[in-house]
Amino acid sequence: MNRSGAIGVFDSGVGGLSVLHHIRQILPHERLIYVADSGHVPYGDKSQSYIEQRSQTLTRFLIAQGADAVVIACNTATAAAVASLRSQFSIPIVGMEPAVKPAVAATKSGVVGVLATIGTLESARFAALLEKYAGEVEIVTQGCPGLVEQVEQGELNSARTRELIARYTAPLLARGADTLILGCTHYPFLAPLIREVAGNHITLVDTGEAVARQLQRRIQTELPARISGAATVQFFTSGDAVHAAHIISVLWGEDVAAQRLPHEFL
Ligand code: DGL
Repeated sequence: MNRSGAIGVFDSGVGGLSVLHHIRQILPHERLIYVADSGHVPYGDKSQSYIEQRSQTLTRFLIAQGADAVVIACNTATAAAVASLRSQFSIPIVGMEPAVKPAVAATKSGVVGVLATIGTLESARFAALLEKYAGEVEIVTQGCPGLVEQVEQGELNSARTRELIARYTAPLLARGADTLILGCTHYPFLAPLIREVAGNHITLVDTGEAVARQLQRRIQTELPARISGAATVQFFTSGDAVHAAHIISVLWGEDVAAQRLPHEFL
């Protein structure tokens, strides 16, 4: 039976838009529904059960809106909640993790730096990722409290953002890292500033495009009979809709509206 579907995408806030850009490029005919959980941002310092609950609530909302596949466009939420989402929902759930494998392949100095949230860095999934892919390469990690909030405020180039980036990249560069993993979906929006601060010779890697390709593969194999909905993008937030519309428009690159989630999903 043919069914019309949509792709649901969520993040703690607007960071997942860096993944949504790749999804729209690779799957331009899909109906996309994005939720910024801005009322609960950041996830990086929240407990696993808190993030699991939010992820379940947002997934229920996306399915109610017609999503038949969901992308967790957040490294922190994937680490905390992908297992419980997959056990509860039978639709394809695509998660993401810091780009350790491509970074290990890219480094020439043999030292890779990871910028991510504390939640991601302390997770069992991240430990398993290092175990699997680090090999002989030295991996130096750096939690980045405050950086997500700068992106949420649209401060992609302010003095405060620059100061935080300098503080967080300095120890990694001092250890000899020539490759930095942007292990949080908010950080690709800071890539120009990170390059300015860390130097153009540094390689930056993230997993946004790989996630979009993985989504494409899973749709093709697991939902072969589906018809995508009209090629539209809708934005929802658990935070303030006016602020969300403003910052999403800046990061998405066109003027868009944002709707507040119904209260049972807040
Ligand atoms: N964008 C989320 C991630 O990829 C971030 C986090 C947060 O809210 O702390 O990890």
